[in-house]
This record gives sequence, structure tokens and C-alpha cells, in this order.
Amino acid sequence: MNWQEQFSVGHTDIDNHHEELFQLVSALDLAIQKGEEDAVDDIINFLEHYVTEHFEEEEELMLSHNFVGYATHKAEHEKFKYLVSDIRTNFNDNTSLTHIIFSIRRLIDTLVHHIQTIDIAIAPLVGESHE
Ligand SMILES: [Fe+2]
Repeated sequence: MNWQEQFSVGHTDIDNHHEELFQLVSALDLAIQKGEEDAVDDIINFLEHYVTEHFEEEEELMLSHNFVGYATHKAEHEKFKYLVSDIRTNFNDNTSLTHIIFSIRRLIDTLVHHIQTIDIAIAPLVGESHE
């Protein structure tokens, strides 16, 4: 899955994080081939960071502009946070790696969809930023 300019919201930090998420699909494919727990652990670490730091950055941007779609967007973020913590719990509980990888793949697909449909709506805010 390749990053495309059309998904850009025009905010360097946010766009870079989104691009990293797209690259995570390749990292996951590699982890599947190797079947290594460490590689899967790294991917979960990345996702944990993504749903805290990255989401916070988007939320701050929306709040600073009194964005009308904030509540809906924030609710989506909370859903993702729950899914990531669920994956982490399962991983730590030694749930089968195949099951974990399947859950991660499904999560990444949903996150990519979120970028393409929900995050794109914050693009107009970026032009108004005073950064
Ligand atoms: Fe978002």
C-alpha cells in the first residue's frame, strides 16, 4: 500500500505519521514472513505511539480551530485506542501470533480508511494555522 499526495492534510507532522502508517503494512508483511515475535512487538509499539501522540496532535489542531467535527473524530480515535490496547493485551497474554497479526492487519486497514475519509476533513484547518 503506497502513500499518495491526495491523502495529505498539508501538515508536515501529521502527514509524516500517516505515511509511516502506510509503510507499516510492509513491516507487517515482513514480520509475517519471519514469524518473529519481536517484529510484531515493534509494530504494536508503533501503534501505541500512533494512537496517543499522533491522535493528540490532530485533536489539538481541531480544538484550536473549534472544528465542528471534533466530537465525531475524537470518538473514532477512542475506538482505535481501545482496539490497540486489546491487541497489546492479547499479545502479552501469548495469544497465537497468527491471530494477533490478523487483528493488526485489520486495524491498519481501518486506520488507512480513517486517514482517507476522516482525517482529510481537517485539511482546511491547516491553511489557517499560525505555526
Ligand atoms: Fe484522525
